[in-house]
Amino acid sequence: MNSNRKTVIAGNWKMNKTPKEAEALLREVLPAADGAACEVVVCVPYVDLPVACNVAGGSNVKVGAQNVHFKPSGAYTGEISAAMLQELGVSYVVVGHSERREYFAETDATVALKIAATLDAGITPILCVGESLAEREQGIMAERIRTQIKIDLAGVAAADMGKVVIAYEPIWAIGTGKTATSEQAQEVCKLIRDTLCELFGADAAQGVSILYGGSMNAKNAAELLAQPDIDGGLIGGASLKAEDFGKIIAAAN
Ligand code: 13P
Repeated sequence: MNSNRKTVIAGNWKMNKTPKEAEALLREVLPAADGAACEVVVCVPYVDLPVACNVAGGSNVKVGAQNVHFKPSGAYTGEISAAMLQELGVSYVVVGHSERREYFAETDATVALKIAATLDAGITPILCVGESLAEREQGIMAERIRTQIKIDLAGVAAADMGKVVIAYEPIWAIGTGKTATSEQAQEVCKLIRDTLCELFGADAAQGVSILYGGSMNAKNAAELLAQPDIDGGLIGGASLKAEDFGKIIAAAN
C-alpha cells in the first residue's frame, strides 16, 4: 500500500445471496467497516443492488455491480445500462472479470466499451486482468497482462485514470485456495503500474489503485497489502463471511 493512493477493499459476492440474504450480510458488514480508513465496497448481484444501496446509504460502505452493458439503452434483452446503475446509487462496477471473459465470451474490445460507458456515468470501473495457469507456464504472463491493459484502457484519457481501479486476478488463484505469493502479486501489480506509466505517464500511473484478487483471506491479506504496488483487494469467497471480510478491512487499516 502507498499512502498517496486510496486503499480499496472490495467484496465480489458473485452469484451469491438473494436480496433478503444480502441485506442480512450487509448489516453484518457495516459495523466492521465503520471507521475504516480504506474504501470498503460490496459488489453484489443486480437484484440485490436496491436493498444494498438502501442499507449502505449513509454508511462508509460503497455499493458496486458486477457487470454493465456498454450501450446507453435499446434492444439488448437481459442487459443493464450504466445509467440504470447510477440512478440506484451504485458507485463501482466490476468490468472484465475472468469469469465473464471465460463463461460469457467477454472480450477486451467489449471490456473497453464498458469502461467508457461506466466512466461516462460517473461510476468507478474495477477493471480485472489476469493470466491463466497455462499462460503463466508458457512464459507469456507479462504479454497477456500488458495486452489486456492496453486494449481495455485504450479509450481512457490520462486525466481520467484517477477514476479507474484495476484488479490483478490470476485466474489460477480464483476460488482455488491457491493464492499468489506476495512476491508474485507485487511483481504483476508493478508490471501493471509500469504499463500504465508508459501509456498515461508517471503521475497518472502513481495515482491508480491496483488491487490483488484470488483467494485473499483473513490470514494472507496483511502480507499482500504490505506490498508497495498492492493498494487493496478484490475478494470473492472471504467477502461472504462478515467476520473474515472485517478482518481483511482491519488488515488494510
Ligand atoms: P476468491 O477470493 O473466491 O478467490 O475470488 C476472487 C475473485 O474472483 C474476486 O473477483
